[in-house]
Amino acid sequence: MLFTWHLVDGTSFTSLEEGKMQDFLVGDKQVCLLRKADVVFAFAATCPHAGARFCDGWLDAQGRLVCPLHKYRFDPANGRNTSGEGYKLKTYPVEIREDYIYIGL
Ligand code: FES
Repeated sequence: MLFTWHLVDGTSFTSLEEGKMQDFLVGDKQVCLLRKADVVFAFAATCPHAGARFCDGWLDAQGRLVCPLHKYRFDPANGRNTSGEGYKLKTYPVEIREDYIYIGL
């Protein structure tokens, strides 16, 4: 898959609060970032079901995203809809270069 790396303005790896989802405009896309330990996940900021904002949601005990509107769950690493409704969350590749975060779009 071909993509272009984009620097995420307004944050860095060390300034991302672990376990908290935050939206950023990257290129022309609104992207949600989530840091878990040494890994940063990037995925679409809105739910593929009916467009709720993931930043208003939370993580369950297994580390899956829980949509705040209808509580569907998604794996932040691959976008799989783990609660079984058949939706797919768009995810993006992430690279950490020094302390900067780059997203592949
Ligand atoms: S809008 Fe996310 S589960 Fe319905």
